Amino acid sequence: VPASRIRNFSIVAHIDHGKSTLADQLLRVTQTVSERDMKAQYLDNMDLERERGITIKLQAARMNYNAKDGNTYVLNLIDTPGHVDFSYEVSRSLVACEGALLVVDASQGVEAQTLANIYLALEQDLEIVPVLNKIDLPGAEPDRVKAEVEEAIGLDCSDAVLASAKMGIGIDEILEKIVAIVPPPADNTDRPLRALIFDSYYDAYRGVIVYFRVVDGKVRKGDRVRLMASKKEYDIDELGVLSPTQVPVDELHAGEVGYFAASIKSVEDARVGDTIALASNIPDEPLPGYAEAKPMVFCGLFPTDSEDFENLREALDKLKLNDAALSFEPETSSAMGFGFRCGFLGLLHMEIVQERLEREYDLDLIITAPSVVYRVTLVGGEVIEVDNPSQLPAPQKREQVEEPYIRVDVIAPETYVGAVMELCQSRRGDFKDMRYFTPTRTTIIYELPLAEVVTDFFDQLKSRTRGYASMEYQFIGYRVNELVRLDVMVNGDPVDSLATIVHRDKAYGVGKILVEKLKELIPRQQFKIPVQAAIGSRIIASQQIPALRKDVLAKCYGGDISRKKKLLQKQAKGKKRMKAIGTVDVPQEAFMAVLRLD
Ligand code: GTP
Repeated sequence: VPASRIRNFSIVAHIDHGKSTLADQLLRVTQTVSERDMKAQYLDNMDLERERGITIKLQAARMNYNAKDGNTYVLNLIDTPGHVDFSYEVSRSLVACEGALLVVDASQGVEAQTLANIYLALEQDLEIVPVLNKIDLPGAEPDRVKAEVEEAIGLDCSDAVLASAKMGIGIDEILEKIVAIVPPPADNTDRPLRALIFDSYYDAYRGVIVYFRVVDGKVRKGDRVRLMASKKEYDIDELGVLSPTQVPVDELHAGEVGYFAASIKSVEDARVGDTIALASNIPDEPLPGYAEAKPMVFCGLFPTDSEDFENLREALDKLKLNDAALSFEPETSSAMGFGFRCGFLGLLHMEIVQERLEREYDLDLIITAPSVVYRVTLVGGEVIEVDNPSQLPAPQKREQVEEPYIRVDVIAPETYVGAVMELCQSRRGDFKDMRYFTPTRTTIIYELPLAEVVTDFFDQLKSRTRGYASMEYQFIGYRVNELVRLDVMVNGDPVDSLATIVHRDKAYGVGKILVEKLKELIPRQQFKIPVQAAIGSRIIASQQIPALRKDVLAKCYGGDISRKKKLLQKQAKGKKRMKAIGTVDVPQEAFMAVLRLD
Protein backbone atom coordinates (compact mmCIF):
# COMPACT_ATOMS: atom_id res chain seq x y z
CA VAL A 1 0.00 0.00 0.00
CA PRO A 2 1.42 3.41 -0.88
CA ALA A 3 1.78 5.76 2.09
CA SER A 4 -0.78 8.11 0.50
CA ARG A 5 -3.46 5.45 1.11
CA ILE A 6 -2.65 4.93 4.78
CA ARG A 7 -4.23 6.74 7.72
CA ASN A 8 -2.99 6.17 11.26
CA PHE A 9 -5.24 7.41 14.05
CA SER A 10 -6.20 6.86 17.66
CA ILE A 11 -9.26 7.61 19.72
CA VAL A 12 -9.11 10.00 22.64
CA ALA A 13 -12.07 9.73 24.99
CA HIS A 14 -12.98 9.79 28.64
CA ILE A 15 -13.90 6.50 30.31
CA ASP A 16 -17.45 5.50 29.32
CA HIS A 17 -17.82 8.04 26.55
CA GLY A 18 -17.95 5.18 24.07
CA LYS A 19 -14.48 4.52 22.71
CA SER A 20 -14.75 0.72 22.63
CA THR A 21 -18.25 0.79 21.20
CA LEU A 22 -17.12 3.12 18.44
CA ALA A 23 -14.03 1.05 17.70
CA ASP A 24 -16.27 -2.02 17.37
CA GLN A 25 -18.48 -0.17 14.90
CA LEU A 26 -15.49 0.86 12.80
CA LEU A 27 -14.34 -2.77 12.67
CA ARG A 28 -17.83 -3.90 11.78
CA VAL A 29 -18.54 -1.33 9.06
CA THR A 30 -15.17 -1.97 7.40
CA GLN A 31 -15.87 -5.71 7.69
CA THR A 32 -12.60 -6.21 9.49
CA VAL A 33 -14.37 -8.47 11.94
CA SER A 34 -17.34 -10.61 11.02
CA GLU A 35 -20.65 -10.10 12.78
CA ARG A 36 -20.22 -13.47 14.34
CA ASP A 37 -16.99 -12.50 16.09
CA MET A 38 -18.36 -9.16 17.07
CA LYS A 39 -19.98 -10.36 20.26
CA ALA A 40 -17.00 -9.63 22.43
CA GLN A 41 -15.78 -6.08 22.28
CA TYR A 42 -12.53 -6.32 20.45
CA LEU A 43 -10.37 -3.60 21.72
CA ASP A 44 -10.08 -4.21 25.40
CA ASN A 45 -9.76 -7.87 26.18
CA MET A 46 -8.30 -8.27 29.63
CA ASP A 47 -10.79 -9.54 32.20
CA LEU A 48 -9.82 -6.98 34.74
CA GLU A 49 -10.32 -4.19 32.22
CA ARG A 50 -13.72 -5.45 31.26
CA GLU A 51 -14.78 -5.71 34.86
CA ARG A 52 -13.69 -2.25 35.82
CA GLY A 53 -14.65 -0.72 32.52
CA ILE A 54 -11.23 0.69 31.87
CA THR A 55 -8.67 0.18 29.20
CA ILE A 56 -5.26 -0.69 30.52
CA LYS A 57 -3.23 -2.05 27.64
CA LEU A 58 -3.36 -0.60 24.20
CA GLN A 59 -3.92 -2.60 21.07
CA ALA A 60 -4.17 -1.88 17.38
CA ALA A 61 -6.38 -2.79 14.44
CA ARG A 62 -5.90 -2.50 10.69
CA MET A 63 -8.98 -1.91 8.55
CA ASN A 64 -9.52 -1.65 4.80
CA TYR A 65 -11.96 1.08 3.93
CA ASN A 66 -13.49 1.69 0.52
CA ALA A 67 -13.92 5.44 0.52
CA LYS A 68 -16.43 7.49 -1.48
CA ASP A 69 -13.55 8.71 -3.70
CA GLY A 70 -13.31 5.18 -5.08
CA ASN A 71 -10.01 4.35 -3.38
CA THR A 72 -9.33 1.74 -0.76
CA TYR A 73 -7.51 3.03 2.31
CA VAL A 74 -5.72 1.21 5.08
CA LEU A 75 -6.84 2.66 8.39
CA ASN A 76 -4.75 1.78 11.40
CA LEU A 77 -6.48 2.39 14.70
CA ILE A 78 -4.01 2.53 17.55
CA ASP A 79 -5.77 2.35 20.87
CA THR A 80 -4.55 4.28 23.90
CA PRO A 81 -4.82 3.25 27.55
CA GLY A 82 -7.28 5.47 29.31
CA HIS A 83 -5.55 6.28 32.59
CA VAL A 84 -3.00 8.82 33.80
CA ASP A 85 -0.79 6.09 35.23
CA PHE A 86 -0.06 5.11 31.65
CA SER A 87 0.31 8.57 30.13
CA TYR A 88 3.75 7.77 28.74
CA GLU A 89 2.27 4.86 26.77
CA VAL A 90 -0.52 7.16 25.62
CA SER A 91 2.04 9.64 24.34
CA ARG A 92 3.92 6.92 22.40
CA SER A 93 0.80 5.62 20.73
CA LEU A 94 -0.18 9.16 19.77
CA VAL A 95 3.27 9.72 18.27
CA ALA A 96 2.62 6.66 16.09
CA CYS A 97 -0.42 8.44 14.55
CA GLU A 98 -1.10 11.43 12.33
CA GLY A 99 -4.58 12.07 13.69
CA ALA A 100 -7.02 11.37 16.50
CA LEU A 101 -10.75 11.09 16.96
CA LEU A 102 -11.84 13.13 19.94
CA VAL A 103 -14.92 11.35 21.26
CA VAL A 104 -17.04 13.27 23.74
CA ASP A 105 -20.29 12.06 25.24
CA ALA A 106 -22.87 14.61 24.08
CA SER A 107 -24.89 14.13 27.24
CA GLN A 108 -21.88 14.82 29.49
CA GLY A 109 -19.08 17.02 28.23
CA VAL A 110 -15.35 17.50 28.42
CA GLU A 111 -13.57 15.65 31.24
CA ALA A 112 -10.11 16.15 32.70
CA GLN A 113 -8.67 12.99 31.20
CA THR A 114 -9.89 13.93 27.71
CA LEU A 115 -8.27 17.33 28.03
CA ALA A 116 -4.93 15.92 29.11
CA ASN A 117 -4.84 13.41 26.26
CA ILE A 118 -5.99 15.87 23.64
CA TYR A 119 -3.23 18.26 24.72
CA LEU A 120 -0.76 15.41 24.24
CA ALA A 121 -2.19 14.87 20.75
CA LEU A 122 -1.96 18.58 19.92
CA GLU A 123 1.64 18.67 21.12
CA GLN A 124 2.39 15.97 18.54
CA ASP A 125 0.65 18.08 15.85
CA LEU A 126 -2.04 15.49 15.30
CA GLU A 127 -5.11 16.45 13.29
CA ILE A 128 -8.20 16.12 15.47
CA VAL A 129 -11.62 14.92 14.29
CA PRO A 130 -14.22 15.89 16.90
CA VAL A 131 -17.04 13.39 17.41
CA LEU A 132 -20.03 13.94 19.67
CA ASN A 133 -21.21 10.50 20.68
CA LYS A 134 -24.45 9.23 22.24
CA ILE A 135 -26.67 11.69 20.37
CA ASP A 136 -29.41 9.07 20.65
CA LEU A 137 -29.73 9.82 24.36
CA PRO A 138 -32.65 12.09 25.30
CA GLY A 139 -30.24 14.09 27.46
CA ALA A 140 -27.80 14.76 24.62
CA GLU A 141 -26.95 18.45 24.18
CA PRO A 142 -24.59 18.52 21.21
CA ASP A 143 -24.58 22.31 20.94
CA ARG A 144 -23.68 22.88 24.55
CA VAL A 145 -20.93 20.26 24.39
CA LYS A 146 -19.60 21.65 21.10
CA ALA A 147 -19.29 25.06 22.72
CA GLU A 148 -17.52 23.45 25.65
CA VAL A 149 -14.99 21.67 23.42
CA GLU A 150 -14.34 24.90 21.52
CA GLU A 151 -13.87 26.84 24.73
CA ALA A 152 -11.71 24.26 26.48
CA ILE A 153 -9.53 23.10 23.60
CA GLY A 154 -9.87 25.85 21.04
CA LEU A 155 -10.91 23.31 18.44
CA ASP A 156 -13.38 24.28 15.73
CA CYS A 157 -16.43 22.06 16.21
CA SER A 158 -18.72 23.45 13.55
CA ASP A 159 -18.02 20.31 11.52
CA ALA A 160 -18.06 17.84 14.41
CA VAL A 161 -19.64 14.48 13.63
CA LEU A 162 -22.84 13.75 15.51
CA ALA A 163 -22.74 10.05 16.22
CA SER A 164 -24.22 7.22 18.16
CA ALA A 165 -21.78 4.37 18.37
CA LYS A 166 -24.48 2.28 19.95
CA MET A 167 -27.07 2.82 17.19
CA GLY A 168 -24.51 2.94 14.39
CA ILE A 169 -25.22 6.56 13.50
CA GLY A 170 -22.47 8.68 11.91
CA ILE A 171 -19.98 5.84 11.46
CA ASP A 172 -19.58 6.34 7.67
CA GLU A 173 -19.11 10.04 8.20
CA ILE A 174 -16.37 9.34 10.75
CA LEU A 175 -14.57 7.04 8.30
CA GLU A 176 -14.79 9.66 5.53
CA LYS A 177 -13.49 12.33 7.91
CA ILE A 178 -10.52 10.15 8.85
CA VAL A 179 -9.58 9.86 5.17
CA ALA A 180 -10.12 13.57 4.52
CA ILE A 181 -8.67 15.16 7.65
CA VAL A 182 -5.96 12.84 8.95
CA PRO A 183 -2.83 13.32 6.81
CA PRO A 184 -1.14 10.30 5.24
CA PRO A 185 2.20 9.29 6.79
CA ALA A 186 5.37 10.66 5.20
CA ASP A 187 6.80 8.32 2.58
CA ASN A 188 10.29 7.78 4.01
CA THR A 189 10.78 4.26 2.68
CA ASP A 190 14.23 5.13 1.26
CA ARG A 191 15.75 5.91 4.63
CA PRO A 192 17.35 3.41 7.04
CA LEU A 193 14.72 1.58 9.11
CA ARG A 194 13.37 3.34 12.18
CA ALA A 195 10.21 1.95 13.78
CA LEU A 196 8.58 3.01 17.04
CA ILE A 197 7.46 0.46 19.63
CA PHE A 198 4.11 1.60 21.02
CA ASP A 199 3.16 -1.59 22.86
CA SER A 200 4.40 -5.06 23.62
CA TYR A 201 3.17 -8.09 25.51
CA TYR A 202 4.59 -11.44 26.48
CA ASP A 203 3.40 -14.62 24.78
CA ALA A 204 4.50 -17.90 26.34
CA TYR A 205 5.11 -19.57 22.94
CA ARG A 206 6.59 -16.88 20.71
CA GLY A 207 8.16 -14.59 23.27
CA VAL A 208 7.37 -10.88 23.35
CA ILE A 209 5.03 -9.62 20.63
CA VAL A 210 6.10 -6.12 19.70
CA TYR A 211 3.61 -3.64 18.22
CA PHE A 212 5.25 -0.93 16.18
CA ARG A 213 4.83 1.80 13.62
CA VAL A 214 7.37 2.03 10.81
CA VAL A 215 8.52 5.65 10.59
CA ASP A 216 11.37 5.31 8.06
CA GLY A 217 12.51 2.52 5.76
CA LYS A 218 11.13 -1.00 5.68
CA VAL A 219 11.37 -4.22 7.64
CA ARG A 220 11.15 -7.82 6.38
CA LYS A 221 10.59 -11.17 7.97
CA GLY A 222 13.99 -12.68 8.81
CA ASP A 223 15.67 -9.28 9.25
CA ARG A 224 18.11 -8.92 12.10
CA VAL A 225 16.97 -5.90 14.09
CA ARG A 226 18.54 -3.90 16.87
CA LEU A 227 16.52 -2.17 19.59
CA MET A 228 18.39 1.06 20.02
CA ALA A 229 17.71 1.77 23.71
CA SER A 230 18.08 -1.79 25.01
CA LYS A 231 20.97 -2.37 22.53
CA LYS A 232 19.81 -5.94 21.99
CA GLU A 233 19.61 -7.69 18.61
CA TYR A 234 17.06 -10.23 17.40
CA ASP A 235 16.03 -12.06 14.23
CA ILE A 236 12.44 -11.50 13.26
CA ASP A 237 10.66 -14.89 13.29
CA GLU A 238 7.25 -13.53 12.46
CA LEU A 239 6.08 -10.22 11.03
CA GLY A 240 2.50 -9.22 10.51
CA VAL A 241 -0.44 -6.86 10.69
CA LEU A 242 -3.32 -6.68 13.19
CA SER A 243 -6.62 -7.11 11.47
CA PRO A 244 -7.25 -7.24 14.43
CA THR A 245 -6.03 -10.80 14.84
CA GLN A 246 -2.41 -11.29 13.85
CA VAL A 247 -1.95 -11.97 10.15
CA PRO A 248 1.64 -12.64 8.96
CA VAL A 249 3.08 -10.60 6.07
CA ASP A 250 6.57 -10.49 4.52
CA GLU A 251 7.31 -6.79 4.60
CA LEU A 252 6.14 -3.54 6.18
CA HIS A 253 7.27 -0.12 5.04
CA ALA A 254 7.22 3.49 6.23
CA GLY A 255 3.79 4.50 7.50
CA GLU A 256 2.57 0.99 8.24
CA VAL A 257 1.66 -0.50 11.61
CA GLY A 258 2.30 -4.10 12.56
CA TYR A 259 3.79 -6.58 15.01
CA PHE A 260 6.77 -8.87 15.14
CA ALA A 261 7.93 -11.80 17.26
CA ALA A 262 11.61 -12.60 17.72
CA SER A 263 11.86 -14.88 20.77
CA ILE A 264 12.36 -11.90 23.08
CA LYS A 265 12.31 -13.09 26.69
CA SER A 266 10.74 -10.16 28.54
CA VAL A 267 8.94 -6.92 27.66
CA GLU A 268 11.75 -5.16 29.49
CA ASP A 269 13.92 -5.88 26.44
CA ALA A 270 11.45 -4.29 24.03
CA ARG A 271 10.12 -1.29 25.84
CA VAL A 272 7.49 1.11 24.69
CA GLY A 273 9.21 4.10 23.06
CA ASP A 274 12.28 2.19 21.88
CA THR A 275 13.39 2.41 18.23
CA ILE A 276 13.69 -0.67 16.01
CA ALA A 277 16.58 -0.44 13.51
CA LEU A 278 18.24 -2.87 11.11
CA ALA A 279 21.38 -4.31 12.69
CA SER A 280 23.07 -3.96 9.29
CA ASN A 281 22.16 -0.30 8.84
CA ILE A 282 21.91 1.59 12.12
CA PRO A 283 20.55 5.14 11.72
CA ASP A 284 22.43 8.07 13.26
CA GLU A 285 19.69 8.89 15.72
CA PRO A 286 16.91 6.87 17.37
CA LEU A 287 13.38 8.29 17.21
CA PRO A 288 12.96 11.03 19.81
CA GLY A 289 11.12 10.77 23.10
CA TYR A 290 12.27 7.48 24.61
CA ALA A 291 11.93 7.40 28.38
CA GLU A 292 12.02 4.59 30.88
CA ALA A 293 8.92 4.23 33.00
CA LYS A 294 9.71 5.43 36.49
CA PRO A 295 7.79 4.02 39.45
CA MET A 296 6.16 6.75 41.51
CA VAL A 297 4.36 4.74 44.18
CA PHE A 298 5.78 1.96 46.36
CA CYS A 299 4.36 -0.53 48.80
CA GLY A 300 5.42 -3.65 50.65
CA LEU A 301 3.86 -7.00 49.74
CA PHE A 302 4.12 -9.73 52.36
CA PRO A 303 2.61 -13.20 52.12
CA THR A 304 0.36 -13.87 55.13
CA ASP A 305 1.92 -17.30 55.19
CA SER A 306 5.69 -16.93 55.09
CA GLU A 307 5.90 -20.27 53.25
CA ASP A 308 4.49 -18.42 50.24
CA PHE A 309 7.50 -16.15 49.82
CA GLU A 310 8.92 -18.12 46.87
CA ASN A 311 5.50 -18.35 45.24
CA LEU A 312 5.19 -14.60 45.50
CA ARG A 313 8.59 -14.16 43.89
CA GLU A 314 7.60 -16.45 41.01
CA ALA A 315 4.32 -14.62 40.51
CA LEU A 316 6.07 -11.24 40.44
CA ASP A 317 8.64 -12.59 37.97
CA LYS A 318 5.82 -13.73 35.71
CA LEU A 319 3.94 -10.45 35.91
CA LYS A 320 7.16 -8.60 35.19
CA LEU A 321 7.56 -10.46 31.89
CA ASN A 322 4.55 -8.52 30.73
CA ASP A 323 4.93 -5.31 32.65
CA ALA A 324 8.18 -3.41 32.23
CA ALA A 325 7.01 -0.69 34.60
CA LEU A 326 6.65 -3.01 37.60
CA SER A 327 9.68 -3.08 39.85
CA PHE A 328 10.32 -5.15 42.95
CA GLU A 329 13.07 -6.19 45.28
CA PRO A 330 13.12 -8.35 48.39
CA GLU A 331 12.36 -6.53 51.62
CA THR A 332 12.91 -7.80 55.10
CA SER A 333 10.74 -6.32 57.77
CA SER A 334 11.45 -6.95 61.43
CA ALA A 335 7.71 -7.12 62.04
CA MET A 336 6.50 -8.82 58.87
CA GLY A 337 9.32 -11.09 57.84
CA PHE A 338 10.22 -11.58 54.18
CA GLY A 339 8.38 -9.85 51.37
CA PHE A 340 8.94 -7.49 48.46
CA ARG A 341 9.07 -3.76 48.06
CA CYS A 342 7.28 -3.04 44.79
CA GLY A 343 7.20 0.08 42.65
CA PHE A 344 4.31 1.16 40.43
CA LEU A 345 3.49 3.93 37.96
CA GLY A 346 0.56 5.02 40.08
CA LEU A 347 -2.27 3.83 42.28
CA LEU A 348 -4.26 2.12 39.56
CA HIS A 349 -1.21 0.22 38.40
CA MET A 350 -0.65 -0.84 42.01
CA GLU A 351 -4.22 -2.08 42.41
CA ILE A 352 -4.06 -4.01 39.16
CA VAL A 353 -0.90 -5.84 40.20
CA GLN A 354 -2.21 -6.61 43.68
CA GLU A 355 -5.45 -7.91 42.30
CA ARG A 356 -3.74 -10.13 39.76
CA LEU A 357 -1.44 -11.58 42.41
CA GLU A 358 -4.39 -12.49 44.54
CA ARG A 359 -6.71 -13.70 41.80
CA GLU A 360 -4.49 -15.28 39.20
CA TYR A 361 -1.83 -16.57 41.56
CA ASP A 362 -4.07 -17.22 44.52
CA LEU A 363 -1.77 -15.54 47.02
CA ASP A 364 -2.87 -14.12 50.34
CA LEU A 365 -1.00 -10.91 50.85
CA ILE A 366 -0.61 -8.20 53.40
CA ILE A 367 -0.13 -4.95 51.55
CA THR A 368 1.36 -1.98 53.31
CA ALA A 369 0.19 1.58 52.74
CA PRO A 370 1.54 3.16 49.54
CA SER A 371 4.46 5.53 49.82
CA VAL A 372 6.11 7.93 47.41
CA VAL A 373 9.85 8.30 46.80
CA TYR A 374 11.47 10.86 49.10
CA ARG A 375 14.79 12.47 48.30
CA VAL A 376 16.90 12.84 51.42
CA THR A 377 20.08 14.91 51.70
CA LEU A 378 22.28 13.42 54.41
CA VAL A 379 24.64 15.38 56.59
CA GLY A 380 27.74 15.60 54.44
CA GLY A 381 25.78 16.19 51.24
CA GLU A 382 25.04 12.70 49.94
CA VAL A 383 21.55 12.39 48.44
CA ILE A 384 19.60 9.15 48.79
CA GLU A 385 16.15 8.04 47.68
CA VAL A 386 13.80 6.55 50.25
CA ASP A 387 10.68 4.69 49.13
CA ASN A 388 10.00 3.00 52.46
CA PRO A 389 9.05 5.26 55.39
CA SER A 390 10.77 3.03 57.92
CA GLN A 391 14.05 3.74 56.12
CA LEU A 392 13.95 7.51 56.61
CA PRO A 393 17.20 8.37 58.41
CA ALA A 394 16.97 9.97 61.87
CA PRO A 395 16.73 13.80 61.98
CA GLN A 396 20.31 14.25 63.21
CA LYS A 397 21.62 12.30 60.21
CA ARG A 398 19.82 14.28 57.52
CA GLU A 399 19.86 17.80 56.24
CA GLN A 400 16.62 17.97 54.31
CA VAL A 401 13.83 15.86 52.91
CA GLU A 402 12.22 16.57 49.57
CA GLU A 403 8.96 15.07 48.34
CA PRO A 404 7.45 14.74 44.85
CA TYR A 405 4.81 17.30 43.81
CA ILE A 406 2.16 17.02 41.19
CA ARG A 407 -0.05 19.45 39.36
CA VAL A 408 -3.65 18.36 39.61
CA ASP A 409 -6.32 19.60 37.19
CA VAL A 410 -9.81 19.00 38.47
CA ILE A 411 -12.85 19.59 36.29
CA ALA A 412 -16.08 20.01 38.20
CA PRO A 413 -19.40 21.84 37.99
CA GLU A 414 -19.24 25.29 39.56
CA THR A 415 -21.38 24.26 42.56
CA TYR A 416 -18.61 21.94 43.75
CA VAL A 417 -15.72 24.39 43.47
CA GLY A 418 -15.83 25.04 47.23
CA ALA A 419 -15.74 21.33 48.06
CA VAL A 420 -12.83 20.69 45.70
CA MET A 421 -10.83 23.60 47.11
CA GLU A 422 -11.48 22.53 50.67
CA LEU A 423 -10.19 19.04 49.90
CA CYS A 424 -7.04 20.31 48.13
CA GLN A 425 -6.40 22.78 50.92
CA SER A 426 -6.63 20.05 53.56
CA ARG A 427 -4.05 18.05 51.57
CA ARG A 428 -1.39 20.78 51.73
CA GLY A 429 -2.30 22.02 48.25
CA ASP A 430 -1.21 25.32 46.72
CA PHE A 431 -3.93 26.94 44.68
CA LYS A 432 -2.74 27.88 41.20
CA ASP A 433 -5.59 28.76 38.89
CA MET A 434 -9.26 28.47 38.16
CA ARG A 435 -10.98 28.74 34.78
CA TYR A 436 -14.59 28.62 33.68
CA PHE A 437 -15.33 26.92 30.34
CA THR A 438 -19.05 27.20 30.69
CA PRO A 439 -21.18 28.09 33.69
CA THR A 440 -21.41 24.40 34.55
CA ARG A 441 -17.79 23.37 34.15
CA THR A 442 -14.78 24.73 35.92
CA THR A 443 -11.14 23.72 35.94
CA ILE A 444 -9.38 24.09 39.26
CA ILE A 445 -5.62 23.72 39.31
CA TYR A 446 -3.62 22.90 42.41
CA GLU A 447 -0.09 21.83 43.17
CA LEU A 448 -0.05 19.08 45.77
CA PRO A 449 2.40 16.67 47.37
CA LEU A 450 1.98 13.32 45.60
CA ALA A 451 1.91 11.64 49.03
CA GLU A 452 -1.37 13.43 49.81
CA VAL A 453 -2.94 12.15 46.60
CA VAL A 454 -1.88 8.49 46.81
CA THR A 455 -4.09 8.13 49.86
CA ASP A 456 -7.84 8.43 49.38
CA PHE A 457 -7.78 11.72 47.47
CA PHE A 458 -9.57 10.41 44.41
CA ASP A 459 -12.31 8.71 46.43
CA GLN A 460 -12.77 11.86 48.46
CA LEU A 461 -12.98 13.98 45.35
CA LYS A 462 -15.63 11.71 43.90
CA SER A 463 -17.70 11.59 47.04
CA ARG A 464 -17.49 15.32 47.75
CA THR A 465 -18.65 16.12 44.23
CA ARG A 466 -21.18 13.29 43.96
CA GLY A 467 -19.12 11.78 41.18
CA TYR A 468 -19.20 14.90 39.01
CA ALA A 469 -15.52 15.79 39.19
CA SER A 470 -12.78 14.28 37.09
CA MET A 471 -9.07 14.77 37.61
CA GLU A 472 -5.75 14.43 35.93
CA TYR A 473 -2.27 14.88 37.32
CA GLN A 474 1.26 15.36 36.22
CA PHE A 475 4.55 15.14 38.09
CA ILE A 476 6.21 18.57 38.42
CA GLY A 477 9.29 18.01 40.58
CA TYR A 478 10.60 17.76 44.14
CA ARG A 479 10.15 20.27 46.96
CA VAL A 480 11.66 20.55 50.42
CA ASN A 481 9.22 20.21 53.31
CA GLU A 482 9.31 19.71 57.07
CA LEU A 483 8.72 15.98 57.06
CA VAL A 484 9.01 13.57 59.95
CA ARG A 485 8.70 9.84 60.41
CA LEU A 486 5.80 8.68 62.51
CA ASP A 487 6.51 5.30 64.10
CA VAL A 488 3.88 2.97 65.48
CA MET A 489 4.38 0.58 68.37
CA VAL A 490 2.06 -2.31 69.04
CA ASN A 491 2.46 -4.00 72.40
CA GLY A 492 5.69 -2.08 72.89
CA ASP A 493 7.30 -3.30 69.64
CA PRO A 494 7.85 -0.92 66.74
CA VAL A 495 6.05 -2.15 63.62
CA ASP A 496 8.18 -0.93 60.73
CA SER A 497 5.46 -1.59 58.17
CA LEU A 498 3.11 0.83 59.94
CA ALA A 499 5.56 3.74 59.88
CA THR A 500 4.62 6.73 57.71
CA ILE A 501 6.18 10.01 56.69
CA VAL A 502 4.04 13.04 57.49
CA HIS A 503 4.34 16.79 57.57
CA ARG A 504 5.46 18.04 60.98
CA ASP A 505 2.34 20.21 61.35
CA LYS A 506 0.09 17.24 60.77
CA ALA A 507 2.04 14.70 62.84
CA TYR A 508 0.09 15.06 66.11
CA GLY A 509 -3.29 14.92 64.43
CA VAL A 510 -2.35 11.95 62.30
CA GLY A 511 -0.78 10.10 65.23
CA LYS A 512 -3.85 10.59 67.40
CA ILE A 513 -6.36 9.39 64.82
CA LEU A 514 -4.10 6.58 63.68
CA VAL A 515 -3.83 4.95 67.10
CA GLU A 516 -7.60 5.30 67.55
CA LYS A 517 -8.14 3.53 64.24
CA LEU A 518 -5.67 0.80 65.10
CA LYS A 519 -7.42 0.27 68.40
CA GLU A 520 -10.63 -0.44 66.47
CA LEU A 521 -8.99 -2.58 63.82
CA ILE A 522 -6.70 -4.84 65.82
CA PRO A 523 -8.73 -7.63 67.39
CA ARG A 524 -8.67 -8.06 71.16
CA GLN A 525 -6.43 -10.73 72.59
CA GLN A 526 -6.24 -12.39 76.00
CA PHE A 527 -4.17 -9.46 77.26
CA LYS A 528 -4.14 -5.68 77.07
CA ILE A 529 -2.28 -4.22 74.08
CA PRO A 530 -0.90 -0.69 74.10
CA VAL A 531 -0.81 1.03 70.70
CA GLN A 532 1.42 4.10 70.45
CA ALA A 533 2.55 6.62 67.86
CA ALA A 534 5.96 8.22 68.27
CA ILE A 535 8.25 10.69 66.58
CA GLY A 536 11.77 9.61 67.43
CA SER A 537 11.69 8.62 71.08
CA ARG A 538 8.74 10.91 71.88
CA ILE A 539 5.36 9.20 72.25
CA ILE A 540 2.76 11.55 70.80
CA ALA A 541 -0.39 9.44 71.07
CA SER A 542 -1.41 6.25 72.75
CA GLN A 543 -4.39 3.93 73.15
CA GLN A 544 -5.05 0.63 74.83
CA ILE A 545 -6.82 -2.36 73.30
CA PRO A 546 -8.62 -4.00 76.22
CA ALA A 547 -8.20 -7.71 76.89
CA LEU A 548 -10.70 -10.16 75.50
CA ARG A 549 -13.03 -11.32 78.16
CA LYS A 550 -15.82 -13.33 76.63
CA ASP A 551 -15.33 -16.66 74.95
CA VAL A 552 -16.66 -16.30 71.39
CA LEU A 553 -18.67 -19.48 71.67
CA ALA A 554 -20.39 -18.26 74.79
CA LYS A 555 -22.52 -16.15 72.47
CA CYS A 556 -24.13 -19.27 71.08
CA TYR A 557 -25.77 -20.22 74.38
CA GLY A 558 -24.34 -23.68 73.89
CA GLY A 559 -27.39 -24.64 71.77
CA ASP A 560 -27.28 -24.45 68.03
CA ILE A 561 -24.39 -26.41 66.62
CA SER A 562 -24.64 -25.15 63.04
CA ARG A 563 -24.50 -21.61 64.31
CA LYS A 564 -21.41 -22.48 66.28
CA LYS A 565 -19.80 -23.84 63.16
CA LYS A 566 -20.64 -20.78 61.19
CA LEU A 567 -19.10 -18.55 63.78
CA LEU A 568 -15.90 -20.57 63.80
CA GLN A 569 -15.75 -20.49 60.02
CA LYS A 570 -16.24 -16.78 60.04
CA GLN A 571 -13.34 -16.44 62.43
CA ALA A 572 -11.12 -18.66 60.33
CA LYS A 573 -11.87 -16.59 57.26
CA GLY A 574 -11.12 -13.34 59.07
CA LYS A 575 -7.82 -14.81 60.15
CA LYS A 576 -6.58 -15.35 56.63
CA ARG A 577 -5.51 -11.81 56.06
CA MET A 578 -3.71 -11.28 59.33
CA LYS A 579 -0.10 -11.10 60.20
CA ALA A 580 1.15 -12.18 63.60
CA ILE A 581 3.39 -9.44 64.85
CA GLY A 582 4.99 -10.69 68.04
CA THR A 583 2.01 -12.09 69.90
CA VAL A 584 -0.52 -9.78 68.25
CA ASP A 585 -2.50 -10.55 65.08
CA VAL A 586 -2.68 -7.46 62.90
CA PRO A 587 -5.28 -7.48 60.10
CA GLN A 588 -4.77 -6.13 56.58
CA GLU A 589 -7.03 -3.12 57.25
CA ALA A 590 -4.66 -1.88 59.94
CA PHE A 591 -1.90 -1.42 57.38
CA MET A 592 -4.18 0.79 55.33
CA ALA A 593 -5.54 2.72 58.33
CA VAL A 594 -3.24 5.64 57.67
CA LEU A 595 -4.95 6.16 54.29
CA ARG A 596 -8.36 6.81 55.78
CA LEU A 597 -7.96 9.29 58.56
CA ASP A 598 -10.70 11.80 57.68
P1 GTP B 1 -13.49 2.51 28.51
O1 GTP B 1 -13.26 1.20 27.79
O2 GTP B 1 -13.74 2.31 29.96
O3 GTP B 1 -12.51 3.57 28.19
O4 GTP B 1 -14.90 3.04 28.04
P2 GTP B 1 -15.25 3.39 26.59
O5 GTP B 1 -15.03 4.84 26.36
O6 GTP B 1 -14.63 2.42 25.67
O7 GTP B 1 -16.82 3.22 26.59
P3 GTP B 1 -17.68 2.02 26.03
O8 GTP B 1 -17.59 1.94 24.54
O9 GTP B 1 -17.40 0.81 26.82
O10 GTP B 1 -19.12 2.58 26.35
C1 GTP B 1 -19.51 2.91 27.66
C2 GTP B 1 -21.02 2.76 27.80
O11 GTP B 1 -21.69 3.69 26.96
C3 GTP B 1 -21.50 1.38 27.37
O12 GTP B 1 -22.54 1.01 28.24
C4 GTP B 1 -22.03 1.62 25.96
O13 GTP B 1 -23.05 0.72 25.61
C5 GTP B 1 -22.56 3.02 26.05
N1 GTP B 1 -22.51 3.72 24.76
C6 GTP B 1 -21.48 3.81 23.91
N2 GTP B 1 -21.83 4.54 22.82
C7 GTP B 1 -23.11 4.89 22.99
C8 GTP B 1 -24.06 5.65 22.22
O14 GTP B 1 -23.78 6.15 21.13
N3 GTP B 1 -25.30 5.82 22.75
C9 GTP B 1 -25.65 5.30 23.95
N4 GTP B 1 -26.88 5.52 24.39
N5 GTP B 1 -24.79 4.58 24.71
C10 GTP B 1 -23.55 4.38 24.24
